[in-house]
Amino acid sequence: MTAVIPAAGRGTRFLPVTKVLPKEMLPIGSRPALELVIDEARDAGAERIVVVISRGKELIREYFEGAPGVVFVYQEEQLGLGHAVLQAASAPGFPGTESGEKILVLLGDALVAGCSASREMLAVSVANGGADVIGLERVPPEKVSRYGIAELDGGRIVALVEKPAPEEAPSDLAIAGRYLLDAAIFKKLATQGPGRGGEVQLTDAIDAMLHERTVFGCVYSGRRQDIGNPRGYFKALEAMGENT
Ligand code: G1P
Repeated sequence: MTAVIPAAGRGTRFLPVTKVLPKEMLPIGSRPALELVIDEARDAGAERIVVVISRGKELIREYFEGAPGVVFVYQEEQLGLGHAVLQAASAPGFPGTESGEKILVLLGDALVAGCSASREMLAVSVANGGADVIGLERVPPEKVSRYGIAELDGGRIVALVEKPAPEEAPSDLAIAGRYLLDAAIFKKLATQGPGRGGEVQLTDAIDAMLHERTVFGCVYSGRRQDIGNPRGYFKALEAMGENT
């Protein structure tokens, strides 16, 4: 399996330290957060891990230089999460859109305390005939506009909407930093126009595939830790500390 870890964001919510330290390199104990994300991908069976970075975040490449199976690609323009993920397709040997292979996408600034979200999602996929799976978490109704929100029918996702207004949100189930997707998503991403915030959204590309692919939701048992802002980082230190 191939994993893609987008880690190209500017880290504006964590300035000024992100002027010199990518947020993904913030320490969780003695190791950078991104190493924990890479470990989760490897543990779930990813033998190739494509990390998407941007110019100025070379520290990430330097730290992981020589790490088995880890390759780097650049996102030259910050055009959104969907665009960042799309850049991974330029990595040597990346699975073709018709290959039928699964791609595990793990957001580089999202840690999960208390479980392997990726393993739980793989189990949901296996239990549902190899379906695609999106990791979900419940969020308070007043926070739905910060996330991609899923509408489910049984366990199956029937619609996804990126950062809806609270009155338009189909549920309180938010996309939570982990995706297990057929490589066909890269065909959609290649033609996906800008959505919410003028950015190319991964959420929109998956939503556009729902009529042709079965996608299940998986409310994983652990807690997502957003290290992209100081408050989330402090919480992550505490939560991950309990798990190490
Ligand atoms: C991204 C996704 C969103 C998801 C969130 C947390 O948003 O676009 O759908 O809910 O990550 O995983 P961002 O936090 O980058 O704005």
